[in-house]
Amino acid sequence: MRDQLIALLAEVSTLDLPDAEAAEAFRIAWLGRKGRMKDLMVAFKEAPNEEKRELGKLLNELKGSIEERIESVTSQGPGQSGSGSSGEDLTRPAGGLGIGTHHPLSVVRREIIGIFERMGFVVSEGPEIEDDWHVFSGLNFPEEHPARDMQDTFFVDRNPDLLLRTHTSSVQVREMEQHEPPMRLIMPGRVFRNEAVSSRAHCMFHQIEGLYIDEGVSFADLKQTLLLFAQEFFGPETRIRLRPSYFPFTEPSAEVDVYWGLETEVDKRITKGTGWLEILGCGMVDPNVLEAAGIDSRKYSGYAFGMGVERITMLRYQIGDLRAFFENDARFLDQFKGQY
Ligand code: DAH
Repeated sequence: MRDQLIALLAEVSTLDLPDAEAAEAFRIAWLGRKGRMKDLMVAFKEAPNEEKRELGKLLNELKGSIEERIESVTSQGPGQSGSGSSGEDLTRPAGGLGIGTHHPLSVVRREIIGIFERMGFVVSEGPEIEDDWHVFSGLNFPEEHPARDMQDTFFVDRNPDLLLRTHTSSVQVREMEQHEPPMRLIMPGRVFRNEAVSSRAHCMFHQIEGLYIDEGVSFADLKQTLLLFAQEFFGPETRIRLRPSYFPFTEPSAEVDVYWGLETEVDKRITKGTGWLEILGCGMVDPNVLEAAGIDSRKYSGYAFGMGVERITMLRYQIGDLRAFFENDARFLDQFKGQY
């Protein structure tokens, strides 16, 4: 067998391989499923043990030399295969296209909306280019409120009354103007703020707004609804707390925290050592807002809330940099394969 292998080595190294087709035939003859290499392996297994060392080395050499010959022909480039000018075989079937994924923001938005729909809320949307009334004045923002400032808001140059909405609360105003209570709405959308892009802030992000107006709606209704939401989204044991806050369009106003825990170093860092994390703002709709939209504030009351989709998505998936959502890097997005 030793002499046979040495002869084959010589044969392989002098063989004429004019083109890719010949190389492929050569590959099949030697390395294919029924190729000569297979027979040699069988013979090798049957060879006496004391010869195996030397034979194994020769076999490896032969295999390496075969592969090298094939490689040297197929990597020669243009004009070799005859099927395409690039040297690639254009008649080969293409590899399958990867299946796309749902964007993590879509997954979370869908889930949040689903929870509120099951509680009887109906989806509504409004325009991204708004006017001052629907974004600020109709929501009881004082004339000199800093949110109106050029630094926060993108205004349309030709008409400073037009701007990109800075929050989805604008959709509340449109709905209250157009419909009679009772109304129970969930309003997702894109919002814009003139902020420098960083790991924690972006000039474009997503919010989901809620609004419920009827006779006799109370703060207790608000709290129970939000508790149910938090437990559906974060798990049945989730605890929430309401901290007094201020928004021009609600009175009283609150911010809602969920208890996140303090077990790991990450927990301590993201909760600033408190264990609690803020997830949304809310409150009872200010009577001024109801009246401005033509709703009788002596007859009706209501609550509203608003949350940032990026923020909640970052919590759910432990994503540290907001910019990842907008870069469309497939390595990031592919991690959400199968999520719906
Ligand atoms: N619009 C607020 C913001 O962008 C969020 C918000 C707070 C919405 C309280 C509400 C609310 O409806 O009641 O920060």
